[in-house]
Amino acid sequence: MRMVDIIAKKRDGHILSKEEIQWFVEGYTNDDIPDYQASAFAMALYFQGMTQEEAAALTFAMAASGDQLDLSKVEGVKVDKHSTGGVGDKTTLILGPLVASIGVPVAKMSGRGLGHTGGTIDKLESFQGLKTELSQQEFIRLVNENKIAVAGQSGNLTPADKKLYALRDVTATVDSIPLIASSVMSKKIAAGADAIVLDVKAGSGAFMDNVQDAKKLAEAMVRIGNSLDRKTMAIISNMDEPLGRYVGNALEVKEAVETLKGNGPKDLHELSVTLAAHMAVSAGKAANEKEAGRMLEKVIADGSAVQKMKQFVQSQGGDASAVDHPEMLQTAAVKQDVTADKAGYVQAIHAADIGKAAMMLGAGRTTKEDVIDHTAGIELHKKVGSHVEKNETIATLYTSNKETAAVEQMVQNAYTIGENSITAPTLIYDTIR
Ligand code: URA
Repeated sequence: MRMVDIIAKKRDGHILSKEEIQWFVEGYTNDDIPDYQASAFAMALYFQGMTQEEAAALTFAMAASGDQLDLSKVEGVKVDKHSTGGVGDKTTLILGPLVASIGVPVAKMSGRGLGHTGGTIDKLESFQGLKTELSQQEFIRLVNENKIAVAGQSGNLTPADKKLYALRDVTATVDSIPLIASSVMSKKIAAGADAIVLDVKAGSGAFMDNVQDAKKLAEAMVRIGNSLDRKTMAIISNMDEPLGRYVGNALEVKEAVETLKGNGPKDLHELSVTLAAHMAVSAGKAANEKEAGRMLEKVIADGSAVQKMKQFVQSQGGDASAVDHPEMLQTAAVKQDVTADKAGYVQAIHAADIGKAAMMLGAGRTTKEDVIDHTAGIELHKKVGSHVEKNETIATLYTSNKETAAVEQMVQNAYTIGENSITAPTLIYDTIR
Protein backbone atom coordinates (compact mmCIF):
# COMPACT_ATOMS: atom_id res chain seq x y z
CA MET A 1 0.00 0.00 0.00
CA ARG A 2 1.05 3.61 -0.50
CA MET A 3 -0.03 6.41 1.82
CA VAL A 4 -0.52 8.78 -1.10
CA ASP A 5 -3.19 6.44 -2.54
CA ILE A 6 -5.01 6.19 0.80
CA ILE A 7 -5.01 9.99 1.16
CA ALA A 8 -6.36 10.41 -2.39
CA LYS A 9 -9.04 7.77 -1.84
CA LYS A 10 -10.36 9.54 1.24
CA ARG A 11 -9.96 12.99 -0.33
CA ASP A 12 -12.26 11.84 -3.16
CA GLY A 13 -14.91 10.59 -0.74
CA HIS A 14 -14.40 6.83 -1.04
CA ILE A 15 -14.66 4.37 1.81
CA LEU A 16 -11.43 2.91 3.20
CA SER A 17 -11.06 -0.76 4.02
CA LYS A 18 -10.21 -2.06 7.49
CA GLU A 19 -6.82 -3.13 6.14
CA GLU A 20 -6.01 0.34 4.79
CA ILE A 21 -6.89 1.96 8.14
CA GLN A 22 -4.89 -0.64 10.06
CA TRP A 23 -1.92 -0.11 7.73
CA PHE A 24 -2.02 3.65 8.31
CA VAL A 25 -2.22 3.29 12.12
CA GLU A 26 0.69 0.83 12.25
CA GLY A 27 2.82 2.86 9.85
CA TYR A 28 2.17 6.14 11.65
CA THR A 29 2.88 4.65 15.09
CA ASN A 30 6.17 3.19 13.85
CA ASP A 31 7.21 6.50 12.25
CA ASP A 32 7.15 4.91 8.76
CA ILE A 33 4.51 7.43 7.67
CA PRO A 34 5.65 11.05 8.05
CA ASP A 35 3.62 13.78 9.78
CA TYR A 36 3.01 15.62 6.48
CA GLN A 37 1.13 12.64 5.03
CA ALA A 38 -0.71 11.96 8.29
CA SER A 39 -1.72 15.67 8.35
CA ALA A 40 -3.14 15.50 4.84
CA PHE A 41 -4.96 12.31 5.76
CA ALA A 42 -6.43 13.85 8.94
CA MET A 43 -7.67 16.81 6.88
CA ALA A 44 -9.24 14.46 4.30
CA LEU A 45 -10.97 12.58 7.14
CA TYR A 46 -12.08 15.91 8.61
CA PHE A 47 -13.80 17.01 5.39
CA GLN A 48 -15.08 13.64 4.13
CA GLY A 49 -16.07 12.13 7.47
CA MET A 50 -16.00 8.41 8.18
CA THR A 51 -18.54 5.62 8.01
CA GLN A 52 -19.38 3.75 11.19
CA GLU A 53 -17.24 0.83 9.98
CA GLU A 54 -14.26 3.07 9.24
CA ALA A 55 -14.48 4.72 12.68
CA ALA A 56 -14.69 1.31 14.37
CA ALA A 57 -11.65 0.10 12.39
CA LEU A 58 -9.67 3.21 13.39
CA THR A 59 -10.66 2.73 17.06
CA PHE A 60 -9.72 -0.94 17.06
CA ALA A 61 -6.36 -0.30 15.37
CA MET A 62 -5.48 2.56 17.77
CA ALA A 63 -6.50 0.46 20.81
CA ALA A 64 -4.21 -2.31 19.55
CA SER A 65 -1.29 0.04 18.83
CA GLY A 66 0.26 -0.35 22.30
CA ASP A 67 -0.27 -2.11 25.64
CA GLN A 68 -3.80 -3.25 26.51
CA LEU A 69 -4.84 -3.78 30.09
CA ASP A 70 -5.77 -7.37 30.80
CA LEU A 71 -8.53 -7.34 33.40
CA SER A 72 -9.52 -10.98 32.88
CA LYS A 73 -8.40 -11.77 36.45
CA VAL A 74 -10.85 -9.24 37.86
CA GLU A 75 -14.09 -10.99 38.79
CA GLY A 76 -17.30 -9.61 37.29
CA VAL A 77 -18.25 -7.27 34.47
CA LYS A 78 -15.84 -4.33 34.34
CA VAL A 79 -17.74 -1.16 33.50
CA ASP A 80 -15.81 2.00 32.74
CA LYS A 81 -17.30 5.46 32.73
CA HIS A 82 -15.99 8.32 30.66
CA SER A 83 -16.92 11.97 30.75
CA THR A 84 -16.04 14.25 27.87
CA GLY A 85 -15.00 16.76 30.51
CA GLY A 86 -16.50 19.70 32.24
CA VAL A 87 -15.95 22.26 34.97
CA GLY A 88 -16.45 20.90 38.51
CA ASP A 89 -17.01 17.38 37.19
CA LYS A 90 -15.98 15.18 40.10
CA THR A 91 -18.38 12.32 39.32
CA THR A 92 -15.59 9.73 38.93
CA LEU A 93 -14.64 10.29 42.59
CA ILE A 94 -18.23 9.57 43.59
CA LEU A 95 -19.11 6.80 41.15
CA GLY A 96 -16.13 4.60 42.03
CA PRO A 97 -17.00 4.03 45.71
CA LEU A 98 -20.73 4.21 44.97
CA VAL A 99 -20.90 1.36 42.45
CA ALA A 100 -18.16 -0.61 44.25
CA SER A 101 -20.34 -0.62 47.36
CA ILE A 102 -23.06 -2.52 45.47
CA GLY A 103 -20.49 -4.98 44.10
CA VAL A 104 -19.62 -3.54 40.66
CA PRO A 105 -15.83 -3.86 40.19
CA VAL A 106 -14.09 -0.55 39.48
CA ALA A 107 -10.66 -0.97 37.85
CA LYS A 108 -10.01 2.61 36.85
CA MET A 109 -7.05 4.03 34.98
CA SER A 110 -7.03 7.81 35.20
CA GLY A 111 -4.90 10.69 34.12
CA ARG A 112 -3.65 14.04 35.32
CA GLY A 113 -5.31 17.16 34.03
CA LEU A 114 -4.22 19.82 31.62
CA GLY A 115 -6.56 22.80 31.67
CA HIS A 116 -9.07 24.17 34.14
CA THR A 117 -8.63 21.74 37.02
CA GLY A 118 -6.74 18.57 37.65
CA GLY A 119 -7.65 15.11 36.48
CA THR A 120 -8.91 12.38 38.82
CA ILE A 121 -5.36 11.47 39.88
CA ASP A 122 -4.58 15.08 40.85
CA LYS A 123 -7.82 15.28 42.81
CA LEU A 124 -7.12 12.02 44.66
CA GLU A 125 -3.66 13.26 45.60
CA SER A 126 -5.44 15.76 47.84
CA PHE A 127 -5.51 12.81 50.28
CA GLN A 128 -2.09 12.86 51.99
CA GLY A 129 -0.01 9.86 50.98
CA LEU A 130 -2.42 8.34 48.46
CA LYS A 131 -0.43 6.39 45.89
CA THR A 132 -1.66 5.73 42.36
CA GLU A 133 1.48 4.12 40.96
CA LEU A 134 0.38 0.51 41.26
CA SER A 135 1.82 -2.56 39.60
CA GLN A 136 -0.71 -4.44 37.48
CA GLN A 137 -0.70 -7.26 40.07
CA GLU A 138 -1.36 -4.90 42.98
CA PHE A 139 -4.08 -3.11 40.99
CA ILE A 140 -5.92 -6.37 40.26
CA ARG A 141 -5.51 -7.62 43.84
CA LEU A 142 -7.04 -4.39 45.20
CA VAL A 143 -10.00 -4.56 42.80
CA ASN A 144 -10.68 -8.18 43.75
CA GLU A 145 -10.37 -7.43 47.49
CA ASN A 146 -12.17 -4.08 47.73
CA LYS A 147 -13.99 -3.83 44.37
CA ILE A 148 -12.12 -0.59 43.65
CA ALA A 149 -8.66 0.65 42.68
CA VAL A 150 -7.57 3.73 40.76
CA ALA A 151 -4.19 3.79 39.04
CA GLY A 152 -2.34 6.47 37.12
CA GLN A 153 -1.84 5.74 33.45
CA SER A 154 1.34 3.76 33.00
CA GLY A 155 2.80 1.74 30.19
CA ASN A 156 2.32 2.52 26.57
CA LEU A 157 -1.46 2.75 26.11
CA THR A 158 -2.74 3.83 22.64
CA PRO A 159 0.48 5.40 21.28
CA ALA A 160 -1.24 5.84 17.89
CA ASP A 161 -3.92 8.04 19.46
CA LYS A 162 -1.33 10.04 21.41
CA LYS A 163 0.56 10.81 18.22
CA LEU A 164 -2.48 11.47 16.06
CA TYR A 165 -4.21 13.64 18.69
CA ALA A 166 -1.06 15.78 19.06
CA LEU A 167 -0.94 16.16 15.26
CA ARG A 168 -4.66 17.03 15.05
CA ASP A 169 -4.14 19.67 17.72
CA VAL A 170 -1.74 21.60 15.49
CA THR A 171 -3.45 20.94 12.12
CA ALA A 172 -6.97 22.19 12.97
CA THR A 173 -8.45 18.70 12.75
CA VAL A 174 -9.54 18.09 16.34
CA ASP A 175 -13.19 19.05 15.76
CA SER A 176 -14.26 16.00 13.81
CA ILE A 177 -16.88 13.79 15.41
CA PRO A 178 -15.59 10.44 14.07
CA LEU A 179 -12.01 11.36 15.01
CA ILE A 180 -12.96 12.42 18.55
CA ALA A 181 -15.16 9.35 18.98
CA SER A 182 -12.40 6.98 17.80
CA SER A 183 -9.81 8.71 19.97
CA VAL A 184 -11.89 8.45 23.16
CA MET A 185 -13.12 4.92 22.52
CA SER A 186 -9.64 3.57 21.66
CA LYS A 187 -8.47 4.56 25.16
CA LYS A 188 -11.49 2.95 26.85
CA ILE A 189 -11.01 -0.27 24.93
CA ALA A 190 -7.27 -0.45 25.65
CA ALA A 191 -8.06 0.10 29.35
CA GLY A 192 -9.89 -3.23 29.40
CA ALA A 193 -13.56 -2.29 29.82
CA ASP A 194 -16.28 -4.88 29.13
CA ALA A 195 -18.94 -2.18 29.15
CA ILE A 196 -18.77 1.61 28.85
CA VAL A 197 -21.04 4.37 30.18
CA LEU A 198 -20.42 7.76 28.60
CA ASP A 199 -21.32 11.18 29.95
CA VAL A 200 -21.21 13.53 26.98
CA LYS A 201 -21.39 17.14 28.13
CA ALA A 202 -23.11 19.95 26.24
CA GLY A 203 -22.74 23.64 27.05
CA SER A 204 -20.46 26.58 27.73
CA GLY A 205 -17.94 24.51 29.71
CA ALA A 206 -17.82 21.52 27.37
CA PHE A 207 -16.05 20.36 24.24
CA MET A 208 -19.46 20.39 22.49
CA ASP A 209 -21.25 23.65 23.15
CA ASN A 210 -24.69 22.49 21.97
CA VAL A 211 -26.92 19.48 22.53
CA GLN A 212 -27.19 18.50 18.82
CA ASP A 213 -23.41 18.11 18.41
CA ALA A 214 -23.10 16.35 21.78
CA LYS A 215 -25.78 13.91 20.61
CA LYS A 216 -23.96 13.22 17.34
CA LEU A 217 -20.73 12.55 19.26
CA ALA A 218 -22.55 10.29 21.73
CA GLU A 219 -24.19 8.32 18.90
CA ALA A 220 -20.83 7.86 17.16
CA MET A 221 -19.17 6.59 20.36
CA VAL A 222 -22.05 4.27 21.27
CA ARG A 223 -22.04 2.74 17.77
CA ILE A 224 -18.27 2.21 17.87
CA GLY A 225 -18.39 0.59 21.33
CA ASN A 226 -21.25 -1.73 20.50
CA SER A 227 -19.75 -2.75 17.17
CA LEU A 228 -16.56 -3.74 19.02
CA ASP A 229 -18.59 -5.88 21.47
CA ARG A 230 -18.42 -3.47 24.38
CA LYS A 231 -21.90 -2.76 25.71
CA THR A 232 -21.96 1.02 25.43
CA MET A 233 -24.51 3.73 26.27
CA ALA A 234 -24.38 7.48 26.79
CA ILE A 235 -26.21 10.27 28.49
CA ILE A 236 -26.05 13.88 27.34
CA SER A 237 -25.74 16.19 30.35
CA ASN A 238 -25.77 19.92 30.93
CA MET A 239 -22.46 21.77 31.20
CA ASP A 240 -23.87 25.28 30.85
CA GLU A 241 -22.87 25.98 34.45
CA PRO A 242 -20.29 24.20 36.61
CA LEU A 243 -21.41 20.92 38.16
CA GLY A 244 -22.00 21.15 41.91
CA ARG A 245 -20.70 24.05 43.98
CA TYR A 246 -16.94 23.54 44.02
CA VAL A 247 -14.23 23.75 41.35
CA GLY A 248 -10.64 22.83 42.30
CA ASN A 249 -8.95 19.62 43.41
CA ALA A 250 -9.25 19.27 47.22
CA LEU A 251 -12.51 21.25 47.17
CA GLU A 252 -13.98 18.78 44.66
CA VAL A 253 -12.86 15.85 46.80
CA LYS A 254 -14.62 17.46 49.78
CA GLU A 255 -17.81 17.79 47.72
CA ALA A 256 -17.51 14.19 46.49
CA VAL A 257 -17.22 12.95 50.09
CA GLU A 258 -20.24 15.01 51.09
CA THR A 259 -22.22 13.61 48.15
CA LEU A 260 -21.32 10.04 49.18
CA LYS A 261 -22.70 10.92 52.62
CA GLY A 262 -25.96 12.12 51.06
CA ASN A 263 -25.22 15.81 51.60
CA GLY A 264 -24.23 16.75 48.06
CA PRO A 265 -25.85 19.43 45.89
CA LYS A 266 -28.89 18.31 43.91
CA ASP A 267 -27.32 18.38 40.41
CA LEU A 268 -24.22 16.44 41.42
CA HIS A 269 -26.23 13.89 43.41
CA GLU A 270 -28.69 13.32 40.57
CA LEU A 271 -26.03 13.00 37.86
CA SER A 272 -23.90 10.66 39.99
CA VAL A 273 -26.82 8.36 40.85
CA THR A 274 -27.98 8.33 37.20
CA LEU A 275 -24.54 7.38 35.87
CA ALA A 276 -24.00 4.85 38.66
CA ALA A 277 -27.40 3.28 37.89
CA HIS A 278 -26.44 2.86 34.22
CA MET A 279 -23.13 1.29 35.32
CA ALA A 280 -24.96 -1.11 37.67
CA VAL A 281 -27.37 -2.18 34.90
CA SER A 282 -24.50 -2.63 32.41
CA ALA A 283 -22.70 -4.79 34.99
CA GLY A 284 -25.82 -6.94 35.45
CA LYS A 285 -26.26 -5.91 39.11
CA ALA A 286 -29.79 -4.56 38.58
CA ALA A 287 -32.57 -5.26 36.11
CA ASN A 288 -33.20 -1.60 35.33
CA GLU A 289 -32.15 1.92 36.28
CA LYS A 290 -35.01 2.33 38.75
CA GLU A 291 -34.01 -0.72 40.74
CA ALA A 292 -30.33 0.32 40.55
CA GLY A 293 -31.24 3.82 41.75
CA ARG A 294 -32.93 2.36 44.85
CA MET A 295 -29.87 0.21 45.64
CA LEU A 296 -27.58 3.21 45.25
CA GLU A 297 -29.69 5.56 47.39
CA LYS A 298 -29.67 2.86 50.08
CA VAL A 299 -25.85 2.60 50.23
CA ILE A 300 -25.62 6.39 50.41
CA ALA A 301 -28.18 6.56 53.22
CA ASP A 302 -26.75 3.69 55.31
CA GLY A 303 -23.14 4.95 55.09
CA SER A 304 -21.67 2.06 53.10
CA ALA A 305 -20.80 4.26 50.10
CA VAL A 306 -18.68 6.66 52.16
CA GLN A 307 -17.19 3.71 54.07
CA LYS A 308 -16.09 2.30 50.69
CA MET A 309 -14.37 5.62 49.91
CA LYS A 310 -12.50 5.36 53.21
CA GLN A 311 -11.44 1.78 52.54
CA PHE A 312 -10.29 2.72 49.02
CA VAL A 313 -8.19 5.70 50.24
CA GLN A 314 -6.57 3.61 53.00
CA SER A 315 -5.89 0.67 50.70
CA GLN A 316 -3.83 2.95 48.45
CA GLY A 317 -1.86 4.39 51.37
CA GLY A 318 -3.83 7.61 51.83
CA ASP A 319 -4.81 9.35 55.05
CA ALA A 320 -8.59 8.84 55.14
CA SER A 321 -9.27 11.18 58.08
CA ALA A 322 -10.50 13.76 55.54
CA VAL A 323 -13.39 11.40 54.75
CA ASP A 324 -14.62 11.82 58.33
CA HIS A 325 -13.63 15.50 58.42
CA PRO A 326 -14.04 16.91 54.88
CA GLU A 327 -13.38 20.44 56.19
CA MET A 328 -9.70 19.34 56.27
CA LEU A 329 -9.86 19.69 52.48
CA GLN A 330 -10.77 23.39 52.58
CA THR A 331 -7.52 24.92 53.86
CA ALA A 332 -6.31 27.52 51.34
CA ALA A 333 -4.33 30.38 52.87
CA VAL A 334 -6.35 33.08 51.09
CA LYS A 335 -10.16 33.17 50.96
CA GLN A 336 -11.69 36.01 49.01
CA ASP A 337 -15.41 36.59 48.49
CA VAL A 338 -16.83 37.76 45.15
CA THR A 339 -20.04 39.80 45.36
CA ALA A 340 -22.91 40.48 42.96
CA ASP A 341 -22.75 43.82 41.16
CA LYS A 342 -26.56 44.01 41.05
CA ALA A 343 -29.68 42.36 42.43
CA GLY A 344 -31.70 39.82 40.43
CA TYR A 345 -31.76 36.17 39.41
CA VAL A 346 -28.70 34.27 38.17
CA GLN A 347 -29.47 33.57 34.49
CA ALA A 348 -26.19 31.86 33.54
CA ILE A 349 -22.70 31.08 34.87
CA HIS A 350 -20.17 30.73 32.06
CA ALA A 351 -18.62 27.39 32.98
CA ALA A 352 -15.43 27.71 30.91
CA ASP A 353 -14.68 31.13 32.42
CA ILE A 354 -15.09 29.73 35.94
CA GLY A 355 -12.70 26.94 34.92
CA LYS A 356 -10.15 29.48 33.65
CA ALA A 357 -10.51 31.52 36.85
CA ALA A 358 -9.86 28.38 38.96
CA MET A 359 -6.77 27.71 36.87
CA MET A 360 -5.49 31.24 37.50
CA LEU A 361 -5.87 30.59 41.24
CA GLY A 362 -3.54 27.58 40.88
CA ALA A 363 -6.01 24.70 40.47
CA GLY A 364 -4.97 23.68 36.94
CA ARG A 365 -1.96 23.40 34.68
CA THR A 366 -1.11 25.27 31.51
CA THR A 367 1.83 22.98 30.77
CA LYS A 368 2.44 19.39 31.85
CA GLU A 369 5.30 20.58 34.09
CA ASP A 370 3.18 23.05 36.15
CA VAL A 371 2.67 22.18 39.81
CA ILE A 372 -0.94 22.20 41.01
CA ASP A 373 -2.04 23.95 44.20
CA HIS A 374 -4.46 21.33 45.54
CA THR A 375 -6.07 23.84 47.91
CA ALA A 376 -6.94 26.35 45.15
CA GLY A 377 -10.37 26.71 43.59
CA ILE A 378 -13.76 28.37 43.69
CA GLU A 379 -16.90 27.83 45.75
CA LEU A 380 -20.09 28.91 44.00
CA HIS A 381 -22.66 30.05 46.55
CA LYS A 382 -25.19 30.94 43.87
CA LYS A 383 -26.16 28.75 40.92
CA VAL A 384 -28.47 29.37 37.95
CA GLY A 385 -31.98 30.26 39.16
CA SER A 386 -30.83 31.67 42.56
CA HIS A 387 -31.90 35.12 43.68
CA VAL A 388 -29.12 37.51 44.74
CA GLU A 389 -29.03 40.92 46.37
CA LYS A 390 -26.58 43.60 45.25
CA ASN A 391 -23.24 43.06 47.09
CA GLU A 392 -24.28 39.61 48.30
CA THR A 393 -21.52 36.97 48.11
CA ILE A 394 -21.92 34.83 44.99
CA ALA A 395 -18.63 32.94 45.14
CA THR A 396 -15.49 32.49 47.26
CA LEU A 397 -12.00 32.18 45.81
CA TYR A 398 -9.49 29.84 47.51
CA THR A 399 -5.81 30.28 46.70
CA SER A 400 -2.28 30.71 48.01
CA ASN A 401 -1.91 33.82 45.88
CA LYS A 402 -2.68 37.12 47.63
CA GLU A 403 -3.36 39.01 44.37
CA THR A 404 -6.93 38.06 43.43
CA ALA A 405 -8.45 41.22 41.93
CA ALA A 406 -8.32 40.04 38.28
CA VAL A 407 -9.88 36.67 39.15
CA GLU A 408 -12.59 38.34 41.26
CA GLN A 409 -13.54 40.39 38.21
CA MET A 410 -13.49 37.33 35.98
CA VAL A 411 -15.81 35.39 38.28
CA GLN A 412 -18.16 38.36 38.61
CA ASN A 413 -18.24 38.64 34.81
CA ALA A 414 -18.95 34.91 34.45
CA TYR A 415 -22.29 35.48 36.21
CA THR A 416 -25.20 36.88 34.19
CA ILE A 417 -27.75 38.40 36.54
CA GLY A 418 -31.16 39.54 35.25
CA GLU A 419 -34.52 40.68 36.54
CA ASN A 420 -36.61 37.67 35.53
CA SER A 421 -36.84 34.56 37.65
CA ILE A 422 -35.93 31.38 35.78
CA THR A 423 -36.50 27.72 36.46
CA ALA A 424 -33.59 25.40 37.26
CA PRO A 425 -31.95 24.16 34.02
CA THR A 426 -32.38 20.64 32.65
CA LEU A 427 -29.59 18.38 33.90
CA ILE A 428 -29.89 15.35 31.60
CA TYR A 429 -30.99 16.04 28.04
CA ASP A 430 -31.01 12.60 26.53
CA THR A 431 -29.99 8.94 26.72
CA ILE A 432 -28.38 7.19 23.74
CA ARG A 433 -28.19 3.40 23.43
N1 URA B 1 -10.45 14.03 23.79
C1 URA B 1 -9.82 12.95 23.29
O1 URA B 1 -9.38 12.07 24.04
N2 URA B 1 -9.66 12.87 21.95
C2 URA B 1 -10.13 13.81 21.10
O2 URA B 1 -9.97 13.66 19.92
C3 URA B 1 -10.77 14.94 21.65
C4 URA B 1 -10.93 15.01 23.00
